Amino acid sequence: MKLFLDSANLEEIREVASWGVLDGVTTNPSLCSKETVTFEDNIRAICAVCPGPVSAECVSLRAADIVVEARALAGIAPNIAVKIPVCLEGLKATKTLHGEGIAVNMTLVFSSGQALLAAKAGARFVSPFIGRLDDVSEDGMALIEEIVQIFENFRFETEVIVASVRHPRHVIEAALLGADIATVPYGVMEKLVKHPLTDIGIERFLADWRKVKT
Ligand code: E4P
Repeated sequence: MKLFLDSANLEEIREVASWGVLDGVTTNPSLCSKETVTFEDNIRAICAVCPGPVSAECVSLRAADIVVEARALAGIAPNIAVKIPVCLEGLKATKTLHGEGIAVNMTLVFSSGQALLAAKAGARFVSPFIGRLDDVSEDGMALIEEIVQIFENFRFETEVIVASVRHPRHVIEAALLGADIATVPYGVMEKLVKHPLTDIGIERFLADWRKVKT
């Protein structure tokens, strides 16, 4: 399973890259709005740190405009995946961009029907937002199960990015269901490595080591 960092913060991205677990990065307008450098400079710097796919989101709403914006984003670095919200105009743009060899991450996916159409239009990735579904009392992980099954049934090459991840169990459940990727916020990434018994164990071993004759 691949792990992407859901962040536009270069320091966080560098830090997780140094752990040896970073396979890609996803950004969105909300994440980018928290950064002080310009959007394009930030995305270029992220692409230099992360060799895997880096998602940068289009904000145009008409297919023709999305295509122009996506081409410009894809020109920033070879590892850019353009993020496009799933909608009819987004599907049309995805078809064109797929034909040009530009990787599309179809985002804001909340149903398996949307994921199916995105895959058929040629999206390289789909991003179902499970946390936001859980927030409105729906079952985000059930959506992942459906999409993974549908893509397996028809051998779609489109990869499932489990997005809007809120806690470590989301990552583990996504892995158990065979999702290709989870995009994980920095705080959740830290929680994945932490366990109180590990901390206690280290403390005890260090205390005992001090009693060892050397
Ligand atoms: C994914 O690509 C999105 O950037 C992200 O996971 C959205 O998460 P949120 O629901 O926490 O905003």
